[in-house]
Amino acid sequence: TTSSDKTVTAVAHTNIALIKYWGKQNPELIIPYTGSLSLTLDQFYTQTSVTFNANLDKDQITIDGQPVTGKSGQRVHNFLSIVRQESGIDLNAQVKSTNHVPTAAGLASSASAFAALAAAASKAAGMNLSLTDLSRLARRGSGSACRSIFGGFVEWRKGSDDTNSYAIPVETTHLNDIRIVALTIEKHQKPISSREGMALSVTTSPYYPTWVKVVEADLENIKAAIQDDDFTRFGTISELNAMRMHALTLSADPDFLYFNGDTLTAMNEVKRLRHSGIECYYTIDAGPNIKVICQQANVQTITDTFSNLFGPTKVTVAKPGPGVKYL
Ligand code: PMV
Repeated sequence: TTSSDKTVTAVAHTNIALIKYWGKQNPELIIPYTGSLSLTLDQFYTQTSVTFNANLDKDQITIDGQPVTGKSGQRVHNFLSIVRQESGIDLNAQVKSTNHVPTAAGLASSASAFAALAAAASKAAGMNLSLTDLSRLARRGSGSACRSIFGGFVEWRKGSDDTNSYAIPVETTHLNDIRIVALTIEKHQKPISSREGMALSVTTSPYYPTWVKVVEADLENIKAAIQDDDFTRFGTISELNAMRMHALTLSADPDFLYFNGDTLTAMNEVKRLRHSGIECYYTIDAGPNIKVICQQANVQTITDTFSNLFGPTKVTVAKPGPGVKYL
């Protein structure tokens, strides 16, 4: 037993993938079949404090002041056990987490949650991890969390095992007027989790092997678009890649779909805006909500349009955000 009473607090921001991660080569270690690329967002983050304490007879976990039990509690507990194993500490932990995601934003919080937890728990356990090792650790909680260790544009290099699957920042000053207009179409929990959806796509979609090939090309092309400061190419590739991911749900057996009627309405509206000269593109994750990719100059027109369609409380504008920080 190593004794420790130190409370460590970390903050991590969520991220939106432009080239999606969809499918695990190794579900236990969360090694993906493909690389992915994301943008960390300034508006949405998780703050987490961790204390390992000899007086606790089990892990105590709260999110927004509420005790966490069931499946989510088990997931956090399993993650803490990885930290215990890697640090050699064998104490239970108190974890207090707060999500600063506007309730209406409809953004997944698992990326910011496991990035903040990895940073706070590893340091509280006495480890002093490099950002690369923090990214590897966060990946064990939720794949997309490995990207939230860094700010701005981030690439997750798929790797092949626990040591070489981690995210790296994309060094650039380009496309810094990029904005993500998040539209909340539905606040409820998705019926098929990303975990289940990925497994079904990998094992039953006849198009999965093609996806793996196509993503490699999409990744190279989007990185070139960033280096060329080419927003049109950047947006076009993002929208295409998102639709290719959703084609894996339609082609699974049984088939499933994350869109609802409002998702289609918003997709058509983005295309209508684009054809009228307001340049914007969409991306969609494992749920019905849409994120509109645009540049600062068009934010007002786009937020006005979607506020009229869905109501102003359903529209949140985000900018590029920072990497993980200790308080
Ligand atoms: O990290 P997870 O298991 O929540 O999966 C994320 C899946 C997508 O959001 C759809 C894509 C991505 O790369 O973030």
